[in-house]
Amino acid sequence: MKIQVVAVLLFALSATEICEALNFFQKHVVPQMAPGDCNTKMKVINEQKKKCKPINTFFLDPKGVLNGICNHGNKKPTMNIDLQIIDCKVDNKTYPDCTYKSVPGKATSVTVLCDQNKVPYHLEDVKRAGRK
Ligand SMILES: *[C@@H]1O[C@H](CO)[C@@H](O)[C@H](O)[C@H]1NC(C)=O
Repeated sequence: MKIQVVAVLLFALSATEICEALNFFQKHVVPQMAPGDCNTKMKVINEQKKKCKPINTFFLDPKGVLNGICNHGNKKPTMNIDLQIIDCKVDNKTYPDCTYKSVPGKATSVTVLCDQNKVPYHLEDVKRAGRK
């Protein structure tokens, strides 16, 4: 009986963890976004850790060019891209009322980390046009 309870608990815990870990697409890729959307977009991300994330880059990818970024089996692929981005930079860090200013720009390349299921889980690097 005890073992069953423990098993159920373990299952519940791992299910929660899976839900809580947002992948790269959930954290960083949107079809469209207005500069004023930083505050609302960051709410979902900030709820994970119950604090205001200092900076988060969103890729505006209406055509889904990033979809297959992990498909080649490379664990740390770099893709040359030409996408609009919005960097959301924290203004007021008083959780949960985090506010952000948005810095629009352009990305020329992106590097991510891929898991075993070919799902990108981390944004490793962004090269921005006109910025070093
Ligand atoms: C940040 O937001 C909180 C809650 O809305 C507010 O009380 C505080 O004065 C703000 N701080 C700054 C520096 O604007």
